Amino acid sequence: MTAILDITTEAAVPTPTCRTIVAPGALARLPEFLPKLRPGGRVFVISDSNVAFRYSTSVYSALIDADIRSELIVFLAGEEHKSLDTAESCWRELSRHKAQRGDVIVALGGGVVGDLAGFVASTYLRGIRVVQVPTTLLAMVDSAIGGKTGIDLDGKNDVGSFYLPDVVLIDPEVLGTLAPRVFTEGLAEVIKYGLLDEDLLDMLEERIDELDTTEAGLAALTDIIAWCARYKSEVIERDPQETQPDGRVLLNLGHTLAHGLETATGYSQLLHGEAVAIGMVFALQLSAELGVLEDDRLMGRLVRLLRAVRLPEAYTGQVDAKAVLEAMSRDKKNDQADTTRFVLPRSAGSMKVQRVDNKLVARQVRYFLNPRSSD
Ligand SMILES: NC(=O)c1ccc[n+]([C@@H]2O[C@H](COP(=O)([O-])OP(=O)(O)OC[C@H]3O[C@@H](n4cnc5c(N)ncnc54)[C@H](O)[C@@H]3O)[C@@H](O)[C@H]2O)c1
Ligand SMILES: [Zn+2]
Repeated sequence: MTAILDITTEAAVPTPTCRTIVAPGALARLPEFLPKLRPGGRVFVISDSNVAFRYSTSVYSALIDADIRSELIVFLAGEEHKSLDTAESCWRELSRHKAQRGDVIVALGGGVVGDLAGFVASTYLRGIRVVQVPTTLLAMVDSAIGGKTGIDLDGKNDVGSFYLPDVVLIDPEVLGTLAPRVFTEGLAEVIKYGLLDEDLLDMLEERIDELDTTEAGLAALTDIIAWCARYKSEVIERDPQETQPDGRVLLNLGHTLAHGLETATGYSQLLHGEAVAIGMVFALQLSAELGVLEDDRLMGRLVRLLRAVRLPEAYTGQVDAKAVLEAMSRDKKNDQADTTRFVLPRSAGSMKVQRVDNKLVARQVRYFLNPRSSD
């Protein structure tokens, strides 16, 4: 039950190859997978308060057993701490400990830790190597893969860099301590990969009920996580910095409406994955409306998967459609005023990236959020 994948991209610094390992129990084997340290080199583990509380001791013991010195830098859990203040305190801790280029940072945590520690690693001494050890499902299949790092300023991820880790070490066993709702939101990104890759969609339909952290579930989770990580790695290899029309942009499937909903509801009602689940249903409806959707069974397949894991397929709370639309048009991935770019499915595994007139988008969003209204 071990999968090893490599991404090689010439655009990557400091090393052009990033190795991803997916294996239950991998956390205790961290020393085996570390890049070579300078003589006397140290490992700086950056983590948040929740993850450090649960896992820093086992990481520390594994490093001690391998005769590797380490320091732990912990910040408070939560998106609000993916900030310049936290980055500064990490830089200062690294400086206080006289961290050097031949040392290694280990980012131990979910996407918040991965983004922040990756950013700190990419900037400290102009770049110190980083190993990503993602501990949420979302981070395992998405944020830890591909080298996007960042912190929030006025908006999310306003400051950041592209900086591939040397290694991504994924231990699905750690998902056992995740809050159930946070585990489930990660499945939305997994289902997104299913729409992008029909073989994965078939596999998900067979195994969706197995995906939990029991022993049997871990085998299925390991296969599915490795599949998603491989899919994203291949996209990154083709399009390391999001410049290609059919590269990283495809990963935004479901995210256009999701960002609008998350922003308009103040990031307080929906988890990101829940918003993506709703956003995927919207993207399919829009695709059908525009005559792009060719496979009319796809919506049923998506909705069955979402229901199987209890992800939402519609937003049932109160939200101002105007605020959703405004947030969608302000999205930094959208650079034209009168149209919005969508990833529209034609069929499983076949997408069309299309700019859609904002008047039509507004009509569709209003109807989607309030299907009983006639305006
Ligand atoms: N870099 C990218 O390409 C990329 C892609 C998608 C999302 N992101 C970023 O990822 C972040 C969201 O990541 P996330 O959803 O992993 O959130 P998160 O890192 O905030 O983790 C969610 C919660 O779970 C806790 N946690 C993490 N692992 C745990 C475990 N094994 N057991 C118990 N608790 C655990 C965390 O402390 C936190 O409270 C956002 O900031 C987003 O911008 C980045
Ligand atoms: Zn996402």
